[in-house]
Amino acid sequence: MGGRTMEFQAKWIRTSEDIGGVCPVFRKGWKTEKKVERATLYLTALGVYEAHLNGKRVGNYVLAPGWTAYDKRLQYQEYDITDLVGKKNELTVTLGKGWFRSPMPGWQDTSDKLQRMGRPGGILGEVHIVYMDGSEEVIVTDQSWIWGESRIRFSEIYDGEFCDDTFVTKEWNTVKEFEWSKEILIPQEGEEIREQEVVTAKSVFRTPAGEMVVDFGQEITGYVEFTVDAHAGDRIHILHGEVLDAEGNFYNANYRSAKAEINYICSEGTQTWHPALTFFGFRYLLLDEFPGEATPEQFRGIAVYSNIRKTGEIRTSDPALNQLISNIFWGQRGNFLDVPTDCPQRDERLGWTGDAQVFTKTASYNFDVERFFTKWLHDLAADQMENGAVGHVVPDYLVGGNASAAWADAATICPWQIYQTYGNPQILKDQFASMKKWVDYVTNHTTTPYLWTGGEHFGDWLGLDAPQGSYKGSSREDFIASAFYAHSTELVIKAGRVIGEDVKTYEALHEKIVETFRNTYPEYGTQTEHILAVQFGLAEDCQKTADALAQMIRNDGCQMRTGFVGTPYILHVLSNYGYTDLAYTLLCRKEYPSWLYAVGKGATTIWEHWDGIMENGEFWSTDMNSFNHYAYGSVADWIYEQAAGIRVVEEHPGFEKAWIQPKPGDQLEWLGASIETRHGKISSRWTHTDGAIRYEIVTPVPAQIVIGKKEYAVGPGSYIFWE
Ligand code: BGC
Repeated sequence: MGGRTMEFQAKWIRTSEDIGGVCPVFRKGWKTEKKVERATLYLTALGVYEAHLNGKRVGNYVLAPGWTAYDKRLQYQEYDITDLVGKKNELTVTLGKGWFRSPMPGWQDTSDKLQRMGRPGGILGEVHIVYMDGSEEVIVTDQSWIWGESRIRFSEIYDGEFCDDTFVTKEWNTVKEFEWSKEILIPQEGEEIREQEVVTAKSVFRTPAGEMVVDFGQEITGYVEFTVDAHAGDRIHILHGEVLDAEGNFYNANYRSAKAEINYICSEGTQTWHPALTFFGFRYLLLDEFPGEATPEQFRGIAVYSNIRKTGEIRTSDPALNQLISNIFWGQRGNFLDVPTDCPQRDERLGWTGDAQVFTKTASYNFDVERFFTKWLHDLAADQMENGAVGHVVPDYLVGGNASAAWADAATICPWQIYQTYGNPQILKDQFASMKKWVDYVTNHTTTPYLWTGGEHFGDWLGLDAPQGSYKGSSREDFIASAFYAHSTELVIKAGRVIGEDVKTYEALHEKIVETFRNTYPEYGTQTEHILAVQFGLAEDCQKTADALAQMIRNDGCQMRTGFVGTPYILHVLSNYGYTDLAYTLLCRKEYPSWLYAVGKGATTIWEHWDGIMENGEFWSTDMNSFNHYAYGSVADWIYEQAAGIRVVEEHPGFEKAWIQPKPGDQLEWLGASIETRHGKISSRWTHTDGAIRYEIVTPVPAQIVIGKKEYAVGPGSYIFWE
């Protein structure tokens, strides 16, 4: 993917002096005497850039060059600028700190982080012009460029942006060339980051505390664009928030150390502006300083995320469930900004591997994320340690984190899922070495052969059965780690078989793990332990274990007690073993803890905690309370695969053939879902009508359709069944 890597003749350039947080603008002018046939700009940066040629924005890429494992891989972009080139040309490139020099993560002050923040920002680029007469010219970044301070006085991922619109660059200086690797350069590999939906402000109101607040009615990730009629020197100060507090006041303590603010000094007259070198996760704006009486028409929320195409659709007869689905889609939009992040607002916004692993299947049905994950998985492999350990986050900005089960297993789970959904074995070829290295890491680091004991893990993170004061659920960490060890080994075997690798050692290893697991863990304690034992085929008797799980859930008052690790599989295990009713009971439950509880509390994205806002209106906490954390949105894959019944046949990945086995629930009148696969759109819908159930199925590929106990092998077509 991405094409051939270019040989850059250009030099890395930067400012000749330190200008603190101010964003520099680099400039180059040239004349074009002859007629131009084609002109191309190749550009990248240590930081994030926005380029203009003759006053016009170059391309639509926001926050270019995106976020990769910068020490090893840095994308450059290619823009066709033929239509922008004139006789007299001026190219300007404004540079922000971006992820490259950001103080990420907010809660660590390691020497690594300080070193990252202190490294130089700079740009590297070339303009290639082909003239009508066949001659060529190349303009490169070098000593001939000049730089000045831009009107962007500050910009950074966590803290936001400050623009002084009255600022005019008067001083221009010669740039400094500097040494930075060009070996790390790769062509654009992921999806471009783009401005996507525009959400209009729903209201502007004064809170009980007397503050002016804008409500977009939807949490998004991106930035606000505002229009204001002002006098030169008028100030604007805006803060971002996700929710209002119990009294209806603006609240953003949960952003922790991320200031997430906009500062703006107005010029004279009517002006429209939005930040360009940073982003925010928000639904509300606090207009701390704003000239005149603000009205909703002045604000547009611009959603910014990777250019992934929507492929999935789910509709049901229950408005609350439909809102949940909408929240899941928005959760994905808000956290698929070049890297799959845990959340878009507080001082994290990191590519947490566990969160990504949990959500990959849902993500791949909702949107076409093949390119998105291909790039990220290449970064995962690039940042994987020598000994095979996979960091908690990718790109790996955390220092000293041991590999954790269910987080590091993203190394095997994500590539396998991307292959299953899209059918291209290239991802397995690309990742196979990394997948094996990960499993080998466990083999080499466990304190008990054929299990994974003695590691440090996140456990069943945020499990509802967590002991008082702990973030980790009650499931045994060694149990979870060993279960994922088995699962990852199995995926290495499957992947190896697909791409024709010899996997005998892993087959033997897997057998041993299963045997040792069964001997060591003859009994299961928690819901999550039951779930993993069944889901990964480790239980000696899966039906009996699923029966016990169902009983446990009933004993718990038909409530989940699971966290990050158990939740994604709980409904699958139930409906695969005859407990579809119970699965629907959990899905449609409205009281805490449940997916719909947050919907009842007005959520527009998925929350980190089931009770981010508790029943009494208070917050769960200030330090770990994101309202846009996609992980629990993984329930959507159960709706696609079980409720609507659309499944990949493992041996025919990419929906070359489909398995369609809808499982209706009495709680809903009707439910329909569709996935636009590589082979066309598969849809499935059922409706309860007068004591019977009507099924409508459309498949562009041969499918095995299962309705109740009856099975039909069908060719491509539209089908109606009654039951
Ligand atoms: C993140 C999570 C992540 C976790 C690891 C949190 O701070 O927001 O989503 O997976 O740490 O335990």
